[in-house]
Amino acid sequence: MACLPAAPPARALRRWLGLGLFVLLCLHLGYALEKKVKSKLGEKVGLPCCHEIESSDSLHNYRVYWQKNTMEVVLAYAEGKEISKDKRYMNRTEMDDRNFTLWISPVEILDNGPYQCVVQHLRSSQNPSVVCDETVTLFVTADFSKPNITANVSRNSCESTEMVVRCSSYGGFPKPEITGILNNESVVWNVSWVSESSLSPYSVTGILHLNVTKDVSFTCSVGSNGFTKSTSLLLKKTNDCVVPTVPPSYNVITASSIIIIIFLLAITLAARYLSRHVCSHCCKPQDSVEEGVKECTKTPMNVRRHPSETSSV
Ligand SMILES: *[C@@H]1O[C@H](CO)[C@@H](O)[C@H](O)[C@H]1NC(C)=O
Ligand SMILES: *[C@@H]1O[C@H](CO)[C@@H](O)[C@H](O)[C@H]1NC(C)=O
Ligand SMILES: *[C@@H]1O[C@H](CO)[C@@H](O)[C@H](O)[C@H]1NC(C)=O
Ligand SMILES: *[C@@H]1O[C@H](CO)[C@@H](O)[C@H](O)[C@H]1NC(C)=O
Ligand SMILES: *[C@@H]1O[C@H](CO)[C@@H](O)[C@H](O)[C@H]1NC(C)=O
Ligand SMILES: *[C@@H]1O[C@H](CO)[C@@H](O)[C@H](O)[C@H]1NC(C)=O
Repeated sequence: MACLPAAPPARALRRWLGLGLFVLLCLHLGYALEKKVKSKLGEKVGLPCCHEIESSDSLHNYRVYWQKNTMEVVLAYAEGKEISKDKRYMNRTEMDDRNFTLWISPVEILDNGPYQCVVQHLRSSQNPSVVCDETVTLFVTADFSKPNITANVSRNSCESTEMVVRCSSYGGFPKPEITGILNNESVVWNVSWVSESSLSPYSVTGILHLNVTKDVSFTCSVGSNGFTKSTSLLLKKTNDCVVPTVPPSYNVITASSIIIIIFLLAITLAARYLSRHVCSHCCKPQDSVEEGVKECTKTPMNVRRHPSETSSV
Protein backbone atom coordinates (compact mmCIF):
# COMPACT_ATOMS: atom_id res chain seq x y z
CA MET A 1 0.00 0.00 0.00
CA ALA A 2 2.77 2.43 0.89
CA CYS A 3 4.51 1.71 -2.39
CA LEU A 4 1.64 2.78 -4.61
CA PRO A 5 1.92 6.59 -4.25
CA ALA A 6 5.64 6.40 -4.90
CA ALA A 7 5.22 4.43 -8.11
CA PRO A 8 4.25 7.22 -10.58
CA PRO A 9 7.25 9.52 -9.79
CA ALA A 10 9.58 6.51 -10.10
CA ARG A 11 8.14 5.71 -13.51
CA ALA A 12 8.51 9.34 -14.61
CA LEU A 13 12.11 9.40 -13.36
CA ARG A 14 12.86 6.25 -15.32
CA ARG A 15 11.34 7.78 -18.42
CA TRP A 16 13.41 10.95 -18.07
CA LEU A 17 16.53 8.96 -17.43
CA GLY A 18 15.76 6.85 -20.49
CA LEU A 19 15.29 9.96 -22.61
CA GLY A 20 18.55 11.42 -21.33
CA LEU A 21 20.37 8.22 -22.14
CA PHE A 22 18.79 8.18 -25.58
CA VAL A 23 19.91 11.78 -26.25
CA LEU A 24 23.42 11.00 -25.02
CA LEU A 25 23.56 7.90 -27.18
CA CYS A 26 22.43 9.90 -30.22
CA LEU A 27 25.02 12.59 -29.61
CA HIS A 28 27.69 9.97 -29.15
CA LEU A 29 26.66 8.13 -32.32
CA GLY A 30 26.54 11.44 -34.15
CA TYR A 31 30.18 12.08 -33.29
CA ALA A 32 31.24 8.52 -33.96
CA LEU A 33 29.47 8.46 -37.33
CA GLU A 34 30.87 11.76 -38.53
CA LYS A 35 32.95 10.50 -41.41
CA LYS A 36 36.43 11.77 -42.06
CA VAL A 37 38.56 11.23 -45.11
CA LYS A 38 42.20 12.20 -45.31
CA SER A 39 44.17 12.81 -48.45
CA LYS A 40 47.44 14.25 -49.65
CA LEU A 41 47.56 17.24 -51.96
CA GLY A 42 47.47 16.11 -55.60
CA GLU A 43 46.19 12.61 -54.92
CA LYS A 44 42.89 10.97 -55.79
CA VAL A 45 40.32 10.74 -53.01
CA GLY A 46 36.90 9.12 -52.78
CA LEU A 47 34.21 10.56 -50.53
CA PRO A 48 31.69 7.85 -49.64
CA CYS A 49 27.97 8.51 -49.84
CA CYS A 50 25.24 6.80 -47.82
CA HIS A 51 23.43 4.65 -50.34
CA GLU A 52 24.13 1.89 -52.83
CA ILE A 53 21.78 1.21 -55.74
CA GLU A 54 20.43 -2.30 -55.82
CA SER A 55 21.18 -4.19 -59.02
CA SER A 56 17.47 -4.15 -59.91
CA ASP A 57 17.30 -0.37 -59.58
CA SER A 58 18.81 2.31 -61.81
CA LEU A 59 20.49 5.67 -61.45
CA HIS A 60 17.62 7.09 -63.49
CA ASN A 61 15.39 6.80 -60.43
CA TYR A 62 17.61 8.97 -58.28
CA ARG A 63 18.61 12.49 -57.60
CA VAL A 64 21.99 12.87 -55.98
CA TYR A 65 23.42 16.10 -54.64
CA TRP A 66 26.98 16.48 -53.51
CA GLN A 67 27.30 19.83 -51.83
CA LYS A 68 29.97 21.56 -49.83
CA ASN A 69 29.61 23.81 -46.79
CA THR A 70 25.83 23.16 -47.18
CA MET A 71 25.66 25.84 -49.88
CA GLU A 72 27.79 25.13 -52.95
CA VAL A 73 26.68 22.32 -55.22
CA VAL A 74 29.79 20.41 -56.18
CA LEU A 75 27.96 17.91 -58.37
CA ALA A 76 24.33 17.00 -58.94
CA TYR A 77 22.68 14.13 -60.81
CA ALA A 78 19.06 13.75 -61.81
CA GLU A 79 17.51 10.93 -63.82
CA GLY A 80 20.92 9.58 -64.68
CA LYS A 81 22.38 12.85 -65.98
CA GLU A 82 24.76 15.36 -64.52
CA ILE A 83 22.71 18.48 -63.99
CA SER A 84 25.18 20.74 -62.25
CA LYS A 85 28.88 20.98 -61.57
CA ASP A 86 30.90 23.63 -59.78
CA LYS A 87 33.52 25.33 -61.95
CA ARG A 88 36.21 24.73 -59.35
CA TYR A 89 35.60 20.99 -59.56
CA MET A 90 35.40 20.90 -63.35
CA ASN A 91 37.40 18.00 -64.81
CA ARG A 92 38.43 16.91 -61.32
CA THR A 93 35.35 15.02 -60.14
CA GLU A 94 33.48 11.84 -61.00
CA MET A 95 30.63 10.11 -59.26
CA ASP A 96 30.34 6.35 -58.95
CA ASP A 97 26.99 5.41 -60.52
CA ARG A 98 26.30 2.54 -58.08
CA ASN A 99 27.30 3.85 -54.64
CA PHE A 100 27.57 7.60 -55.41
CA THR A 101 31.13 7.88 -54.15
CA LEU A 102 32.51 11.27 -55.18
CA TRP A 103 36.01 10.97 -56.60
CA ILE A 104 38.23 14.05 -56.65
CA SER A 105 41.54 14.02 -58.46
CA PRO A 106 43.84 15.83 -58.09
CA VAL A 107 42.75 17.05 -54.70
CA GLU A 108 43.50 20.66 -53.72
CA ILE A 109 43.90 22.32 -50.36
CA LEU A 110 40.80 24.41 -51.10
CA ASP A 111 38.83 21.15 -51.24
CA ASN A 112 39.16 20.90 -47.45
CA GLY A 113 35.89 20.90 -45.60
CA PRO A 114 32.59 19.12 -45.02
CA TYR A 115 30.73 17.57 -47.96
CA GLN A 116 27.12 16.54 -47.83
CA CYS A 117 25.65 13.77 -49.93
CA VAL A 118 21.86 13.87 -50.33
CA VAL A 119 20.11 11.01 -52.11
CA GLN A 120 16.50 11.17 -53.25
CA HIS A 121 14.48 8.35 -54.78
CA LEU A 122 11.95 9.28 -57.47
CA ARG A 123 9.83 6.21 -58.12
CA SER A 124 8.61 5.44 -54.63
CA SER A 125 6.12 8.38 -54.52
CA GLN A 126 5.05 11.50 -56.36
CA ASN A 127 7.32 13.66 -54.29
CA PRO A 128 10.90 12.55 -54.23
CA SER A 129 11.76 11.03 -50.86
CA VAL A 130 15.09 11.52 -49.19
CA VAL A 131 16.76 8.14 -48.94
CA CYS A 132 19.70 9.40 -46.97
CA ASP A 133 21.69 12.51 -46.15
CA GLU A 134 25.20 12.30 -44.78
CA THR A 135 28.18 14.53 -44.21
CA VAL A 136 31.79 13.54 -44.74
CA THR A 137 34.67 15.84 -43.93
CA LEU A 138 37.73 15.95 -46.16
CA PHE A 139 41.14 16.75 -44.69
CA VAL A 140 43.77 17.53 -47.28
CA THR A 141 47.35 17.68 -46.09
CA ALA A 142 50.61 18.45 -47.86
CA ASP A 143 54.10 17.37 -46.88
CA PHE A 144 56.67 19.96 -46.00
CA SER A 145 59.94 20.02 -47.87
CA LYS A 146 63.03 18.76 -46.07
CA PRO A 147 64.16 21.71 -43.93
CA ASN A 148 67.03 23.77 -45.23
CA ILE A 149 69.42 25.04 -42.55
CA THR A 150 71.87 27.86 -43.17
CA ALA A 151 74.23 29.42 -40.67
CA ASN A 152 75.79 32.83 -41.23
CA VAL A 153 78.57 33.97 -38.94
CA SER A 154 77.84 37.50 -37.77
CA ARG A 155 80.75 37.94 -35.38
CA ASN A 156 83.79 35.89 -34.59
CA SER A 157 86.12 36.11 -31.64
CA CYS A 158 88.61 33.80 -29.96
CA GLU A 159 86.02 32.84 -27.31
CA SER A 160 82.88 32.43 -29.38
CA THR A 161 81.30 32.56 -32.81
CA GLU A 162 78.04 34.46 -33.11
CA MET A 163 75.84 33.20 -35.89
CA VAL A 164 72.38 33.56 -37.34
CA VAL A 165 70.84 30.15 -37.98
CA ARG A 166 67.93 29.92 -40.37
CA CYS A 167 65.77 26.89 -40.98
CA SER A 168 63.13 26.95 -43.67
CA SER A 169 60.66 24.60 -45.24
CA TYR A 170 57.80 25.10 -47.67
CA GLY A 171 54.79 23.64 -49.45
CA GLY A 172 53.11 22.04 -46.45
CA PHE A 173 49.63 22.08 -45.03
CA PRO A 174 48.23 22.58 -42.43
CA LYS A 175 50.31 24.98 -40.34
CA PRO A 176 53.11 22.89 -38.84
CA GLU A 177 55.21 22.80 -35.74
CA ILE A 178 58.81 23.83 -36.11
CA THR A 179 61.31 22.72 -33.50
CA GLY A 180 65.01 23.28 -33.07
CA ILE A 181 67.25 21.03 -31.01
CA LEU A 182 70.68 22.25 -30.01
CA ASN A 183 72.78 19.51 -28.43
CA ASN A 184 69.63 17.74 -27.19
CA GLU A 185 67.98 20.87 -25.86
CA SER A 186 65.10 22.54 -27.58
CA VAL A 187 65.53 26.17 -28.55
CA VAL A 188 63.10 29.05 -28.83
CA TRP A 189 62.75 30.23 -32.39
CA ASN A 190 61.72 33.43 -33.93
CA VAL A 191 59.27 31.86 -36.34
CA SER A 192 57.66 33.52 -39.31
CA TRP A 193 54.89 32.02 -41.42
CA VAL A 194 53.97 32.75 -44.95
CA SER A 195 50.73 31.53 -46.42
CA GLU A 196 48.72 33.27 -49.12
CA SER A 197 45.51 32.37 -47.37
CA SER A 198 44.42 30.10 -44.56
CA LEU A 199 43.84 27.42 -47.22
CA SER A 200 47.09 27.48 -49.16
CA PRO A 201 50.44 25.83 -48.44
CA TYR A 202 52.65 27.29 -45.78
CA SER A 203 56.25 28.36 -45.89
CA VAL A 204 57.95 28.53 -42.56
CA THR A 205 61.24 30.03 -41.43
CA GLY A 206 62.75 29.87 -37.97
CA ILE A 207 65.52 32.28 -37.09
CA LEU A 208 67.87 31.90 -34.17
CA HIS A 209 70.79 33.98 -32.90
CA LEU A 210 73.41 31.72 -31.42
CA ASN A 211 76.64 32.19 -29.55
CA VAL A 212 78.73 29.12 -30.09
CA THR A 213 81.73 28.38 -27.91
CA LYS A 214 82.34 24.89 -29.32
CA ASP A 215 81.11 22.78 -32.22
CA VAL A 216 77.45 21.91 -31.68
CA SER A 217 74.96 19.85 -33.62
CA PHE A 218 71.71 21.47 -34.57
CA THR A 219 68.54 19.74 -35.74
CA CYS A 220 65.52 21.42 -37.23
CA SER A 221 62.21 19.58 -37.59
CA VAL A 222 59.11 20.74 -39.42
CA GLY A 223 55.85 18.87 -39.57
CA SER A 224 52.15 18.64 -38.93
CA ASN A 225 49.73 15.79 -38.29
CA GLY A 226 52.48 13.49 -37.07
CA PHE A 227 54.58 13.76 -40.23
CA THR A 228 57.90 15.38 -39.49
CA LYS A 229 60.91 16.11 -41.63
CA SER A 230 64.25 16.88 -40.04
CA THR A 231 67.65 18.15 -41.05
CA SER A 232 70.79 18.29 -38.92
CA LEU A 233 73.80 20.51 -39.29
CA LEU A 234 77.06 20.71 -37.36
CA LEU A 235 77.60 24.32 -36.34
CA LYS A 236 81.34 24.86 -36.19
CA LYS A 237 83.07 27.37 -34.03
CA THR A 238 85.14 29.01 -36.74
CA ASN A 239 88.23 30.19 -34.97
CA ASP A 240 90.81 32.28 -36.78
CA CYS A 241 92.78 33.31 -33.70
CA VAL A 242 96.49 32.45 -33.30
CA VAL A 243 96.69 30.78 -29.92
CA PRO A 244 100.05 30.01 -28.13
CA THR A 245 99.32 26.29 -28.18
CA VAL A 246 99.74 26.27 -31.96
CA PRO A 247 102.76 23.99 -32.70
CA PRO A 248 105.85 25.76 -34.10
CA SER A 249 107.00 25.15 -37.65
CA TYR A 250 109.58 22.49 -38.59
CA ASN A 251 112.26 25.13 -39.26
CA VAL A 252 112.02 26.42 -35.73
CA ILE A 253 112.16 22.88 -34.31
CA THR A 254 115.25 21.93 -36.36
CA ALA A 255 117.05 25.16 -35.61
CA SER A 256 116.42 24.95 -31.90
CA SER A 257 117.42 21.27 -31.76
CA ILE A 258 120.73 22.03 -33.52
CA ILE A 259 121.44 24.86 -31.09
CA ILE A 260 120.63 22.64 -28.08
CA ILE A 261 122.87 19.79 -29.38
CA ILE A 262 125.79 22.16 -30.03
CA PHE A 263 125.33 23.71 -26.59
CA LEU A 264 125.30 20.29 -24.90
CA LEU A 265 128.40 19.19 -26.84
CA ALA A 266 130.23 22.37 -25.87
CA ILE A 267 129.38 21.91 -22.21
CA THR A 268 130.51 18.26 -22.19
CA LEU A 269 133.81 19.12 -23.85
CA ALA A 270 134.43 22.07 -21.57
CA ALA A 271 133.54 20.02 -18.52
CA ARG A 272 135.92 17.23 -19.46
CA TYR A 273 138.80 19.59 -20.19
CA LEU A 274 138.28 21.71 -17.08
CA SER A 275 137.84 18.74 -14.71
CA ARG A 276 141.30 17.48 -15.66
CA HIS A 277 142.85 20.94 -15.52
CA VAL A 278 141.25 22.05 -12.23
CA CYS A 279 141.80 18.74 -10.38
CA SER A 280 145.53 19.00 -10.68
CA HIS A 281 145.26 22.22 -8.63
CA CYS A 282 142.48 21.37 -6.23
CA CYS A 283 143.04 17.80 -5.06
CA LYS A 284 146.59 17.84 -3.76
CA PRO A 285 146.56 20.79 -1.34
CA GLN A 286 143.65 19.31 0.66
CA ASP A 287 144.33 17.94 4.21
CA SER A 288 142.58 14.58 4.12
CA VAL A 289 142.48 12.20 1.24
CA GLU A 290 138.78 11.48 1.72
CA GLU A 291 137.74 15.10 1.49
CA GLY A 292 139.95 15.58 -1.50
CA VAL A 293 138.15 12.83 -3.32
CA LYS A 294 134.81 14.46 -2.56
CA GLU A 295 136.08 17.82 -3.73
CA CYS A 296 137.30 16.31 -6.92
CA THR A 297 133.96 14.81 -7.77
CA LYS A 298 132.20 18.08 -7.05
CA THR A 299 134.46 20.26 -9.11
CA PRO A 300 133.07 19.55 -12.57
CA MET A 301 129.64 20.60 -11.32
CA ASN A 302 131.02 23.84 -9.90
CA VAL A 303 132.79 24.44 -13.17
CA ARG A 304 129.60 23.90 -15.10
CA ARG A 305 127.78 26.37 -12.91
CA HIS A 306 130.35 29.14 -13.11
CA PRO A 307 132.25 28.77 -16.36
CA SER A 308 133.25 32.46 -16.40
CA GLU A 309 135.13 32.20 -13.07
CA THR A 310 137.16 29.10 -13.97
CA SER A 311 138.04 30.25 -17.46
CA SER A 312 139.71 33.34 -15.98
CA VAL A 313 142.00 31.12 -13.80
C1 LIG B 1 31.97 2.47 -54.26
O1 LIG B 1 32.39 1.77 -55.42
C2 LIG B 1 33.75 1.92 -55.72
C3 LIG B 1 34.08 1.22 -57.03
O2 LIG B 1 33.09 0.35 -57.41
C4 LIG B 1 34.59 1.37 -54.58
O3 LIG B 1 35.96 1.56 -54.85
C5 LIG B 1 34.24 2.10 -53.30
O4 LIG B 1 34.94 1.54 -52.21
C6 LIG B 1 32.73 2.00 -53.05
N1 LIG B 1 32.43 2.84 -51.89
C7 LIG B 1 31.57 2.48 -50.95
C8 LIG B 1 31.36 3.45 -49.85
O5 LIG B 1 30.98 1.42 -51.01
C1 LIG C 1 38.21 20.53 -68.81
O1 LIG C 1 38.73 19.70 -69.86
C2 LIG C 1 38.37 20.16 -71.17
C3 LIG C 1 38.86 19.14 -72.18
O2 LIG C 1 39.92 18.40 -71.70
C4 LIG C 1 38.98 21.53 -71.39
O3 LIG C 1 38.63 22.03 -72.65
C5 LIG C 1 38.47 22.49 -70.31
O4 LIG C 1 39.12 23.74 -70.44
C6 LIG C 1 38.75 21.93 -68.92
N1 LIG C 1 38.14 22.80 -67.94
C7 LIG C 1 38.78 23.22 -66.85
C8 LIG C 1 38.01 24.11 -65.94
O5 LIG C 1 39.93 22.89 -66.61
C1 LIG D 1 68.95 26.32 -48.93
O1 LIG D 1 69.00 27.72 -48.78
C2 LIG D 1 70.09 28.34 -49.46
C3 LIG D 1 70.07 29.83 -49.14
O2 LIG D 1 68.79 30.37 -49.12
C4 LIG D 1 69.97 28.08 -50.97
O3 LIG D 1 71.06 28.64 -51.63
C5 LIG D 1 69.94 26.56 -51.19
O4 LIG D 1 69.75 26.31 -52.56
C6 LIG D 1 68.82 25.93 -50.39
N1 LIG D 1 68.90 24.50 -50.53
C7 LIG D 1 67.84 23.75 -50.78
C8 LIG D 1 68.08 22.29 -50.85
O5 LIG D 1 66.73 24.23 -50.91
C1 LIG E 1 70.29 13.23 -25.58
O1 LIG E 1 69.02 12.65 -25.65
C2 LIG E 1 69.02 11.24 -25.65
C3 LIG E 1 67.61 10.76 -25.85
O2 LIG E 1 66.66 11.68 -25.40
C4 LIG E 1 69.63 10.74 -24.34
O3 LIG E 1 69.67 9.34 -24.36
C5 LIG E 1 71.02 11.30 -24.19
O4 LIG E 1 71.55 10.92 -22.96
C6 LIG E 1 70.99 12.80 -24.29
N1 LIG E 1 72.35 13.32 -24.26
C7 LIG E 1 72.70 14.40 -23.58
C8 LIG E 1 74.12 14.81 -23.68
O5 LIG E 1 71.90 15.03 -22.90
C1 LIG F 1 61.92 38.23 -33.96
O1 LIG F 1 61.98 38.93 -35.19
C2 LIG F 1 61.43 40.23 -35.16
C3 LIG F 1 61.52 40.81 -36.55
O2 LIG F 1 62.24 40.02 -37.43
C4 LIG F 1 62.19 41.07 -34.14
O3 LIG F 1 61.60 42.34 -34.08
C5 LIG F 1 62.12 40.40 -32.79
O4 LIG F 1 62.88 41.13 -31.86
C6 LIG F 1 62.65 38.99 -32.87
N1 LIG F 1 62.47 38.33 -31.59
C7 LIG F 1 63.43 37.57 -31.03
C8 LIG F 1 63.09 36.93 -29.74
O5 LIG F 1 64.53 37.40 -31.55
C1 LIG G 1 78.67 35.93 -27.16
O1 LIG G 1 79.74 35.62 -26.27
C2 LIG G 1 80.70 36.64 -26.16
C3 LIG G 1 81.80 36.12 -25.26
O2 LIG G 1 81.50 34.93 -24.66
C4 LIG G 1 80.04 37.90 -25.60
O3 LIG G 1 81.00 38.92 -25.55
C5 LIG G 1 78.92 38.31 -26.52
O4 LIG G 1 78.24 39.42 -25.98
C6 LIG G 1 77.95 37.17 -26.71
N1 LIG G 1 76.95 37.56 -27.67
C7 LIG G 1 75.66 37.29 -27.52
C8 LIG G 1 74.77 37.74 -28.63
O5 LIG G 1 75.21 36.70 -26.55
